[in-house]
Amino acid sequence: MSWIYRQFIRPVLFSRDSEAIHNQTMRILSRIGRSPDFCDALRTLYGTPDLPVSTFGLNFPSPIGLAAGMDKQGEAVPVWECLGFGFCELGGITRYGQPGNPTPRMFRITEKQALINRMGFNNPGAEVFSTALQAWKDRNQWPNHPVGINLGKTKTTELGNAAEDYAASFHQLVGLADFFVINVSSPNTPNLRKLQDRKHLEEILKELQKENRSFKKRTHSTEKPILVKISPDLSWNALDEILELIEDSGIQGIVATNTTVHREGEVSERTRDLYSQEGGLSGAPLASRSTEVIRHIYRQTNGRLPIIGVGGVFSADDAWEKITSGATLVQIYTGLVYEGPSLLREIVRGLENKLEENGLEKIEDAVGIQA
Ligand SMILES: Cc1cc2nc3c(=O)[nH]c(=O)nc-3n(C[C@H](O)[C@H](O)[C@H](O)COP(=O)(O)O)c2cc1C
Repeated sequence: MSWIYRQFIRPVLFSRDSEAIHNQTMRILSRIGRSPDFCDALRTLYGTPDLPVSTFGLNFPSPIGLAAGMDKQGEAVPVWECLGFGFCELGGITRYGQPGNPTPRMFRITEKQALINRMGFNNPGAEVFSTALQAWKDRNQWPNHPVGINLGKTKTTELGNAAEDYAASFHQLVGLADFFVINVSSPNTPNLRKLQDRKHLEEILKELQKENRSFKKRTHSTEKPILVKISPDLSWNALDEILELIEDSGIQGIVATNTTVHREGEVSERTRDLYSQEGGLSGAPLASRSTEVIRHIYRQTNGRLPIIGVGGVFSADDAWEKITSGATLVQIYTGLVYEGPSLLREIVRGLENKLEENGLEKIEDAVGIQA
């Protein structure tokens, strides 16, 4: 199936501007999402076998999830489960809606199996987004798998007011998702990555935990797991400081990693200009760095901190490498663009085989065995 996508569908999609195709695909998926029959048809075509995993208090039907940035408006919430994802991360969402950076802002680097994007958190804002999510719930079309929301900072909010900005989005959305990811690592909002500094991050996490406790009290339910998404470009020292802070502040896990501003390796003459476009690089060139970061986190925390591994996953081998390096869950964005939706089934089946080959029963048994 991936072969059909690569031979016949991808060339058509790749002949057009990447953001235009993304938007058109999302509109189609949104329509499919509204029809349970179409969703069932997708499930028949693409659904994956169950490969259950439990982590940070949630049960996942499989460890392979949709990475942030694909469904920024909550347009296709039920579809990700029908396509075989074990969870999805929606957004990034900021407190106030914003248009993002000027276009063009998304580029395919085909010879590297990569994307460069400088979207800049184009999104409808937390309030409009909450209405979109509530509509899926009202129509009884909320998926059965865990749903996460990725939160970013509004571009016009000063760094000093970032904690309040994140907390306001969290307050608006806390009842609507199963877990939250705090994105302090996008390279496309000026200075956002400075929020990975201890002082800023500590303040943000403190405000969020305050909101989380108040949600628990108000609703007599449990607090929502909060994870922090980090950059692959941090030094080991900076990363260790974040790990210490995360463990001290009761944060449930870490998402490693976001896109990189580095451009490793050579490209052909005709791709050189494209490859030097400003923005975050994702896909194959990110794979080994993101795995290195996962391994470092796993070792430093002795496997205590749940890790969602993301960056350059295109196959079961790639996913297995992330898991055995320390990730309990794995996410995909660029791999889906290059390989198509049957990639999910290939990965989940491949992981089942890997477990069997290694005499292991479940994904949790494989986490970190190569770290
Ligand atoms: C077009 C695009 C938009 C993205 N938007 C977000 C975002 O809003 N928030 C976020 O945390 N990560 C965002 N990401 C990063 C992805 O979630 C992921 O961390 C990164 O692409 C590496 O995974 P991949 O190699 O599988 O694509 C975006 C990536 C792309 C390509």
